Amino acid sequence: MAPCVTICRSVDRAHPDRAVIADAARRLRAGELVVFPTETVYGLGAHAFDAVAVARIFAAKGRPSTDPLIVHVVDADGLGQLARDVPAAAHALAARFWPGPLTLVLHKRPEVPGIVTAGLDSVAVRVPAHPVARALLVAAGVPVAAPSANRFSRPSPTTAAHVLKDLDGLVDLVIDAGPTDIGVESTIVDCTVRPPVVRRAGGVPFDVLAEVVPDVRVADTVTDVHEAQVAPGQLLRHYAPDARLTVYTGTPAAVVARLASDARAHVGRGSRVGVLAPEDDLMALAPEVAAAAARGRVVVASLGPRHDPAAAARVLFGALRMLDGERVDVIIASGPARHGLGAAVWDRLRRAAEGRVIPV
Ligand code: TXA
Ligand code: MG
Repeated sequence: MAPCVTICRSVDRAHPDRAVIADAARRLRAGELVVFPTETVYGLGAHAFDAVAVARIFAAKGRPSTDPLIVHVVDADGLGQLARDVPAAAHALAARFWPGPLTLVLHKRPEVPGIVTAGLDSVAVRVPAHPVARALLVAAGVPVAAPSANRFSRPSPTTAAHVLKDLDGLVDLVIDAGPTDIGVESTIVDCTVRPPVVRRAGGVPFDVLAEVVPDVRVADTVTDVHEAQVAPGQLLRHYAPDARLTVYTGTPAAVVARLASDARAHVGRGSRVGVLAPEDDLMALAPEVAAAAARGRVVVASLGPRHDPAAAARVLFGALRMLDGERVDVIIASGPARHGLGAAVWDRLRRAAEGRVIPV
């Protein structure tokens, strides 16, 4: 696609500069691409009813046209122009979790351009909570189609620096409001089927969803390690760093022992190794790899305390990008506890590892 000059504007997270927001809104209405922060990750936005602008999203990301986008609106009233026959379960989920990190898949209205939904008869809708996203949606006055603002299959961006690394010269404006809050994308619940099905684990944990819709189910695609592409956008290779990544799962002692022996083997072969793990594992591992780390052969990235999966969610994508920046040849990893946001973190780890999740 034709390169453009990317402007980057910093704003205060809680009180974004009105002139910046007004300019961004004008650009969206005029068919330009505007990157904005949400509470999950940065989004690459375009006017959802402008099919030409939406086509530019796919070109900028290098995203296949078979992968549908999420449409962002300022509140549940915005559903009317996008969706039809909204079931009671969807209304209940919207009432409880919007604004917030939840996306609902609903029957689409014919007016929504087919390019937004990859030709599907359904549309994904989300009401973000981030004050900058909200200010932008209010000022734009139109629904905004926005995937995560990364090049296709790269880790999602949680800072404006991540966005610029992938999309400088490919988007018109980036609004920088610092790091995002949650760090993994929204939970996607398909409400076109009964009972509703979770298509992607994300910012709203499953057990919290089930408080509102007790019969909600998890799609096989969210849990099955060996499934390739079964739902739109659920490619197994996703969020992938450049280096080949392998994740180990098991008791902490067994995982640490495996990380240590793997690290030694890779260093012995002359490779530079990235270790991505909860800080508990890294501390246990430190004496084993200290010498190699001192020589720069081992680079560690912490996912925070094992029993704080929300901390892992916040830093995961940044850690993957950091290890790429360090040009490690291979990454070995372990993950946090699986409760709460842990399910979403493990889903991203599994995809970053292209399914290489090895029990030890
Ligand atoms: O947190 C988020 O959801 C972020 C921020 C920017 O809002 N957005 C995001 O978008 O993660 P993206 O494009 O990276 O992921 C969108 C995914 C698609 O890959 C697909 O799996 C699902 O949403 N999706 C979109 N429309 C769908 C539909 N009609 N039916 C089923 N899944 C759909
Ligand atoms: Mg994405």
